[in-house]
Amino acid sequence: PLHPRAEAHGKVIVLGEHAVVYGYPAVAAGLPQGIVLEARPRPDPRLPITLTVPAWDLDLELHAGSDHPVARACLEVLAHCDGPVTGWAIHGTSALPSRAGLGSSAALTVALARLVFGPDAGVDDVVAASLAGERVFHGEPSGLDSRVAAQGGVLRYVRGEPPRSINPGAPLPLCIIPSGIPRSTADQVARCRSRLEHLPSVVRPVLIAIGQAVESGIHAIEHGDLDTLGVLFDVAHGLLGALDVSSPALDRMAADARAAGARGAKLTGAGCGGCLLALAGDAPDRLTAAFPSLRPLFVEVAAS
Ligand code: PMV
Repeated sequence: PLHPRAEAHGKVIVLGEHAVVYGYPAVAAGLPQGIVLEARPRPDPRLPITLTVPAWDLDLELHAGSDHPVARACLEVLAHCDGPVTGWAIHGTSALPSRAGLGSSAALTVALARLVFGPDAGVDDVVAASLAGERVFHGEPSGLDSRVAAQGGVLRYVRGEPPRSINPGAPLPLCIIPSGIPRSTADQVARCRSRLEHLPSVVRPVLIAIGQAVESGIHAIEHGDLDTLGVLFDVAHGLLGALDVSSPALDRMAADARAAGARGAKLTGAGCGGCLLALAGDAPDRLTAAFPSLRPLFVEVAAS
């Protein structure tokens, strides 16, 4: 049987995207805007499990023959159930846009794992079950999204190492502004790689500088030094542009965010679409009001 209710966080990469692919560190933060799943028994326990998440246009039956990637991912997670996996209607509510680099798939698979294991499950078990689903979407996922979805807070991450929690000295006032432009993470990783291969002696130092921005950013986060963190956002955005992963639309949004009082602004995630991440100044309302049609998310991230 499934538990009646479970939730999980969304995620945003604060600093370090792209360089993290080459072994440099990154910092990510959990977003309270993740997903809440509720499970109710269907009238006949032999009926397939249904999953509806109206915010993400999902309305699926989870059965072995399905070729929908979300259905296949969910079945991988539900395979961790002891009993048969039929007879439930699962409904999800989310304030997170899907396919925008905000960890929606990890949030879904983590919350689903919690429906299976219950509220007292350990984070490691939940992450392992979520990863079984994430592999359907991402091949060999780094595991960062699932970890952040399960535990929230701020994490430092290096490929192949266990993530480390960071304790913010002051809550981070983050404003996440969806560009509404779709992007492919695989294409963006390939753009960066092609620039690195073309001009290694120039581009390798850019990756190193991003790694340094992460270490300085962690120091600033731990000491509540938001002004320095804002400058590091601006520097990181410029470095990501040098890696060929920004776009005119994201560059304009970053300039608009700074003009509206942000301490700093950068693309987050794969780039060329997805979201802009701004560090709010003293008047976050003015910042969110500068992007009325894009429905910015505002969050103050503290320790988990
Ligand atoms: O936008 P997202 O969440 O898919 O972020 C991709 C982050 C990259 O560093 C560009 C790729 C990766 O695998 O770390």
